[in-house]
Amino acid sequence: MLEIHLDEQDIDRQLRADVQLGLSATPKWLPPKWFYDARGSELFEDITRLPEYYPTRSERTILAERAAGIAAITEAKTLVELGSGSSEKTRLLLDALLSRGTLGAFVPLDVSRTALAEAVAGLTTDYPTLSVHGVVGDMTDDLRHIPDGDNRLVAFLGGTIGNLIPAERAAFLTGLRAVLGEGEWLLLGTDLVKDPAIIVPAYDDAAGVTAEFNKNVLRVVNARLDADFDLDAFDHVALWNAEKEWIEMRLRATTAQQVRINDLDLTVDFAAGEDLRTEISAKFRRPGLETELAAASFTLRHFWTDPQGLFAVSLAQAVSG
Ligand code: SAH
Ligand code: AVI
Repeated sequence: MLEIHLDEQDIDRQLRADVQLGLSATPKWLPPKWFYDARGSELFEDITRLPEYYPTRSERTILAERAAGIAAITEAKTLVELGSGSSEKTRLLLDALLSRGTLGAFVPLDVSRTALAEAVAGLTTDYPTLSVHGVVGDMTDDLRHIPDGDNRLVAFLGGTIGNLIPAERAAFLTGLRAVLGEGEWLLLGTDLVKDPAIIVPAYDDAAGVTAEFNKNVLRVVNARLDADFDLDAFDHVALWNAEKEWIEMRLRATTAQQVRINDLDLTVDFAAGEDLRTEISAKFRRPGLETELAAASFTLRHFWTDPQGLFAVSLAQAVSG
């Protein structure tokens, strides 16, 4: 089943507010959640299969090795997944928790209704004994809609926490802790700081799939807000910010131009070479992560990496504040 907490009207309202704010700001920016219409979700799945994009493969390696241990430690009755997308890697956790005999329900939550509907349909067929309850919602806003329970494991995979800016990240972790009881679990995937020569190509692949994904946000604004962004007039840019230790994805105007956003009655000027920031993707180190978790009353119990040390999966437990 699918429970909708973010309908088309909510999406239009939020997108209007974000576009008005972000495109009137200096520097210009848009939040990354607007990449993920049906096409954007498919492009993300294509990214996960690119040779340069190591995070998905690395996280899958860790989960394959640790899923049975995670099931034994947590004995979770409900698995909640935030920003679940295709939930493809999550099947490793479902298999392990079902073998352990504790799991009764899976609750994937995502803003992308199409990606979630497809995942829920596949999981319902493949796991007939499991209750699969999809929630269309925003993980920064709709955590109160996660079903009650007494031994839940919340999985937040893929490194998506790195797409939140630090203040959003802190608010998100605090909000998540507030809906969990003491002793409940968070399984968190984070990409790790490493040589930018490995990171940058993962965000600027030779086949140009990430460039298409990046430009998809302009298609979304064109379609939903009757705007006239010319996708050919922007270049995809992926920059490593060494001080912040994050990747910045930007769209750079190739020429001076005006963009009309009819539904907002807004005209936006771009100078030649001006950037629109579309995403940050923060990379983590264990001590910083442990501190951020502790600040939100989560204690880090386990920190696992793949053999190459590219990516980490952390198991943290809600503790008293
Ligand atoms: N967890 C999957 C997908 C990661 S892609 C994996 O590891 O491969 C990021 C996912 O988060 C997308 O499915 C996107 O639709 C979703 N997402 C992005 N912003 C979101 C938000 N604010 N609330 C809920 N889901 C969000
Ligand atoms: C979903 N998220 C973790 C991806 C990332 O790597 O930050 C989104 C992405 N952006 C470009 N490529 C993939």
